[in-house]
Amino acid sequence: MTSANTNNTQTPKAVLEFNEVYKDYPDGDTTVHALAPTTCTIHSGEFVAVVGPSGSGKSTLLTIMGGLQKPSGGSVSLDGREYSHMSGKELARLRFDTVGFVLQSSNLVPFLTLEEQLRLRSSYAHQSFDARRATSLMQDLDIEKLRRKYPDELSGGEKQRAAICVALFGRPAVILADEPTASLDTSRAMGVADIFSRASRREGTAVVMVTHDERLLEECDRVLTIQDGHLEESTAERASQHA
Ligand SMILES: Nc1ncnc2c1ncn2[C@@H]1O[C@H](COP(=O)(O)OP(=O)(O)OP(=O)(O)O)[C@@H](O)[C@H]1O
Ligand SMILES: [Mg+2]
Repeated sequence: MTSANTNNTQTPKAVLEFNEVYKDYPDGDTTVHALAPTTCTIHSGEFVAVVGPSGSGKSTLLTIMGGLQKPSGGSVSLDGREYSHMSGKELARLRFDTVGFVLQSSNLVPFLTLEEQLRLRSSYAHQSFDARRATSLMQDLDIEKLRRKYPDELSGGEKQRAAICVALFGRPAVILADEPTASLDTSRAMGVADIFSRASRREGTAVVMVTHDERLLEECDRVLTIQDGHLEESTAERASQHA
């Protein structure tokens, strides 16, 4: 399995590369230009925020980053592999090996408990189940007592934290999170930003997080702003105590 760089002293690796990537959606007789031609690189260990108004193209950007949909043009490399010519099966394997998703719609398996979702991930990756990591992540996210519950039995915010737990568990090279703190109160939202920040620093995971919450931006290394499908880089410094 391709995994995140676990040694942060190594040179950061480009885990996501966009070269003139754009996305058009047909809309009756017209076309929605959801993402204008975009070139950018995201490295291992970077914690990146994406901000922008509703309908500006944030989810489109994130789903293309993770290979959930292909762009209309341009090239995308995920963990060094350009995916436009891959079959659906190959791309699914690349996603599984490389990306942890926290999407706007929950990506939990409805008929599995939280712990079973983590076990399934390990068995699909042909790895033994790391019970200590599972427990420690669940404790960090304050969902340990929910380990035997099904998604239907969880509140919106609990589901969100369970999805974050599943996404982090496999030590992916990249976490793509679409408003992961939308259903959370301030202290839990800050807690999630802190967990992502730690994953990026300690495990070399690249984290790309769409958020509307300005308070989370100070945890991030970079802020990308998107407006009508146009992506721009703003500068952001992670607070010096986190460096
Ligand atoms: N499958 C689709 N078919 C047609 N148009 C789409 C499709 N998905 C998104 N769009 C359009 O593309 C544009 C960007 O949508 P996108 O979902 O990326 O926005 P967003 O920034 O994530 O918004 P929000 O903050 O509301 O989640 C919008 O104009 C939207 O209506
Ligand atoms: Mg969206």
